[in-house]
Amino acid sequence: MSAMHDVALSYDHLRPDAPKAERYAELRARVRALLDGETDAIANLANAAAEVYALLPDVNWAGFYLLKGGELVVGPFQGRPACVRIAVGRGVCGTAVADRSTQVVEDVHAFEGHIACDPRSRAEIVVPVVVDGVVVAVLDLDSERPGRFDQADRAGLEALVAELTPRVDWDRAAAR
Ligand code: SME
Repeated sequence: MSAMHDVALSYDHLRPDAPKAERYAELRARVRALLDGETDAIANLANAAAEVYALLPDVNWAGFYLLKGGELVVGPFQGRPACVRIAVGRGVCGTAVADRSTQVVEDVHAFEGHIACDPRSRAEIVVPVVVDGVVVAVLDLDSERPGRFDQADRAGLEALVAELTPRVDWDRAAAR
């Protein structure tokens, strides 16, 4: 409850042209406060997805896919309903798992194998979540604006995932 009070701040106080690093620093601080003292996977992933979606501009989908039985299954997210299962190696999400690396896609139409859950989405960034050397999930963001995500978003979201990873009970979220 107290954490909720701490983060129940405005979502409109950041200048639209604020440097991305500033916005990501605030996002990390807010997620840290929201997750403080809690390890429940669904609670923490849901609040983290909601915070990402609320704080970052021009994002039409933000959330997690969890590795279960060797494939990605949609987890807590904000946005329109999404494809439920994605095979490792397929689409932007499955590629992030197979390559164990962040995928920054300026234009999804130019990414062979992109899975179009929402035809409005034009740009995408997917960050793998790695625990003990194993990918357990991905954080996926979509935007309607081509070129929306760049290396600053990559740095910001990778730092967020690093902050989040030890605060989630992955054994109960993903079937490793
Ligand atoms: N576009 C993704 C699928 C997930 S949705 O964007 C929510 C992909 O190609 O893996």
